[in-house]
Amino acid sequence: MMAVCPLVDLARGEARRLDVEPPIAVFHTEDGELFAIDDTCTHQDASLADGWLEGCEVECPLHASKFDLRTGAVDAPPAKRPVRTHEVSVRDGVIFVGVSADAPSAPAGVQVSTNAAPVSTDAT
Ligand code: FES
Repeated sequence: MMAVCPLVDLARGEARRLDVEPPIAVFHTEDGELFAIDDTCTHQDASLADGWLEGCEVECPLHASKFDLRTGAVDAPPAKRPVRTHEVSVRDGVIFVGVSADAPSAPAGVQVSTNAAPVSTDAT
């Protein structure tokens, strides 16, 4: 599990991009739920953390594809492939992400490594 930040530092309605490889976006919805998905849109090279969060969906800032944060599924085109989702938990007030072992879905022309380099790790 990768430590992200204290929960109080990620306000509802906000997202945080983790500069790991490939990058991960962590979202805190207005309802107080936390989700983590690969940050790079599967259509082209855009950061979903810079997109618009609405309920359990994020809209890509470049061409407005929408992804369901719960499943990674595409809810609106032009993207066709889902984004990878990651496990999120909160322990002692700190957000942690468990990086999925599934292969990421990178857009055409974008190379991603599957060697996630953690920002920091917990000792457990
Ligand atoms: S880059 Fe995301 S919809 Fe095109």
